[in-house]
Amino acid sequence: MQEKIEELKRKAKQTIDEAKDSKTLEDLRIFLLGKKGKITSLMQELKDIPKEEKPAFGKLINEARDYIENSINDSLLKFKEDLYKKQQILEAIDIGLPGKKPNFGHLHPCTKAYLEVEEIFHKMGYKVVEGPEIEYDEYNFEKLNIPKAHPARDEQDTFYINDKILLRTQTSPVQARVMEKGEIPIRIISTGRVYRSDSVDATHSPTFNQIEGLVIDENITFSDLKGTLSELAKALFGSDTKTRFRPHHFPFTEPSAEMDVSCFKCHGKGCKFCKKEGWIEILGCGMVHPHVLEMCGLDKNKYKGFAFGMGVERIALLKYEIDDMRLLYENDIRFLKQF
Ligand code: DAH
Repeated sequence: MQEKIEELKRKAKQTIDEAKDSKTLEDLRIFLLGKKGKITSLMQELKDIPKEEKPAFGKLINEARDYIENSINDSLLKFKEDLYKKQQILEAIDIGLPGKKPNFGHLHPCTKAYLEVEEIFHKMGYKVVEGPEIEYDEYNFEKLNIPKAHPARDEQDTFYINDKILLRTQTSPVQARVMEKGEIPIRIISTGRVYRSDSVDATHSPTFNQIEGLVIDENITFSDLKGTLSELAKALFGSDTKTRFRPHHFPFTEPSAEMDVSCFKCHGKGCKFCKKEGWIEILGCGMVHPHVLEMCGLDKNKYKGFAFGMGVERIALLKYEIDDMRLLYENDIRFLKQF
């Protein structure tokens, strides 16, 4: 009996020492210490042993069980520790490595340009309103004094949804929508995307953004227009910026003008940037045409107003000295992160 016990211990120890994983040890635990294991059958063999020898053998078997159990547990613990050490090496944080810089984005140059203009008008007490990009012909053209067959429609060909609905060619229809509400005085700007059936080149795109402005009240004059837009020019391009108003024609304003600003690169002397002109064209403007006031339900004898419209991309190109509009739409981060 004693030999059997010793032999069992020896073999168990050998298997434990040679075990390569914890599964082998768990299997061994069941094989030796389980309900139907070797130790249990040794216990059962005790019944064939003379009574006086039983306690001594019983003690030996118990010791063997404890010995095997402890050896298995020690070995399992070692496996766990080894695994933990390996994991520690694999998952170690190397605090010697330089940190990864978070990638901060920023606003697109067009958004920046728009927000700058918005801020300037906000300070002058203007409200920002929105209008739909899918617009009725009636608002985009008719109510702006551009009836069917008017030549201005050729310059602003667009994408038609049907006879009556189109993608707006300008933000000016917002003027008509606001005037129709009849809440005077009006002092608003509106921005958004407009569409034209143009092909893409350095200065054209079938879709671009405009900022529209409208002021309606009693006693509004052309001097108010000049004063307001000159302030805009100074705030946008520097306090020494001069403005020039050239007569022009827009169907919905009378008189109409285009506003130029003195070149902020050469201060009017003439350079490559302003194509030797000394002046740069910025926007279209004028006094709201009495017929437009009338069509929008306002008393043309009581109210007067001025309006203006400018391209957001154009302002961004000028401010950031970018020479090709396409760059603004390509979303190349290497380009955009300069601004
Ligand atoms: N809507 C015109 C365009 O797209 C720009 C414009 C000119 C708007 C004069 C105005 C204005 O409000 O008064 O060419």
